[in-house]
Amino acid sequence: MTDETAACRRAAALRAMVEEVIVETLPALDDPRASTTGVSRLVEAMRYSLTAPGKRLRPTLLLAAAEACGGRPRDFVRFAVGLEMIHAYSLVHDDLPAMDDDDLRRGRPTNHVVFGEAMAILAGDALLTEAFALMLEPVADPARQMEIVAEVCRAAGWRGMVGGQAADLMAEGRDPAEDTLRSIHERKTGALLAVSVRAGARLAGAGDEQVEVLDRFSEHFGLAFQIADDIKDETAPTEVSGKTGGGDREAGKMTYPALYGVERSRELLEQELDLASAALADFGERAAVLEELARSSVAPALEPRSERV
Ligand code: IPE
Ligand code: IPE
Ligand code: MG
Ligand code: MG
Ligand code: MG
Repeated sequence: MTDETAACRRAAALRAMVEEVIVETLPALDDPRASTTGVSRLVEAMRYSLTAPGKRLRPTLLLAAAEACGGRPRDFVRFAVGLEMIHAYSLVHDDLPAMDDDDLRRGRPTNHVVFGEAMAILAGDALLTEAFALMLEPVADPARQMEIVAEVCRAAGWRGMVGGQAADLMAEGRDPAEDTLRSIHERKTGALLAVSVRAGARLAGAGDEQVEVLDRFSEHFGLAFQIADDIKDETAPTEVSGKTGGGDREAGKMTYPALYGVERSRELLEQELDLASAALADFGERAAVLEELARSSVAPALEPRSERV
C-alpha cells in the first residue's frame, strides 16, 4: 500500500467516525422528545441539512489534526460534529432567497425549498446553538477547552465567517479587487476551516509551535478551498458539485474567476495548495492525512472542463 493510499484510507475512516455521530446526534422523528414538544418539523429540517451528503471536511480536519498532534480522534468526534453543525447552519442560511437564493445543495433541494423560509432560518439557528452543546461536553482540560470554544466563536461570528458572509453580500456587483476578494474568502470560508485544524491540535494538547505551523497550512488551504469553490461554480456540472452552478456570475459575486478568469484561478489555487503542503513539512508523515484532505477537496476544480456559457 502506498502512503497516499494509506492516508486516503485513514481520511475515510475518520470521516466514517464523523458520519456515525451525525446520524445519531439529533433525535429521530419518532423520538417522543421531538413529537411531544411540537418540534418535530424543526428537528426534521435540522436533520435534513445535517445528514445530507457533504464532504464532512471541517470535522475530519479536526480529527486529522488531533491525530497528527498525538491525540486520539475518537475522543473528539462529538466536538468535531459541532463544527459540522455550524457549517450546516451556514449553508442553510447562505442558500436563503435573501442571501444566495439557491435551490440545490448537496444534490438535494435546499432547506427552505422543502421546509419554507421561516423553518429554514430556525433550523439554522438551532443547528448553531446545538453545536455549542456538543463542543462544551468535557473532552479536555476545562480551561483549555473553554479557550478553544471561544476561538470557534470568534471564527464563526462577526470577526470570521458571518463577517465574511456580510462582506460577500456587500461586494455583489462591485468591481473585483484583490485585497477585498482575499479578505472575503479568508473570513467566509478560511476562518472555520482554520479553527477546525487549530481545535483538533489544541484539544490533543499541541503547543504553540505546532499550532503555528498548522495555522500556516490553514491560511493557504482555506484560500485554496474557496478559490476551488469559485471555480466549481463556474465550471463543474451539478453531478460533481451538488449545486446549480453559475449563480456567482449571475449575482455579480466577487470571485477568483471574476477577477482572474478560470485558468489563472487554477494556477493560483495550485500555488496556495503547494504552500499549504510545504507548511506541513515539519510534521512529516504525521500530516499525510491533512495533506490528503486538502488535495482531494480541491481536486474537482483542477480538472479541465468546458466553461459555462
Ligand atoms: C461549501 O462548503 C461552502 C463553502 C464554504 C465553500 P463545502 O464544499 O465543504 O460543502 P459540503 O460540506 O461538502 O457540502
Ligand atoms: C459560502 O460561500 C460560505 C459559507 C459560509 C456558507 P458560497 O456562497 O460560495 O458557498 P456555496 O457555493 O453556496 O456552497
Ligand atoms: Mg454565499
Ligand atoms: Mg452560496
Ligand atoms: Mg460558492
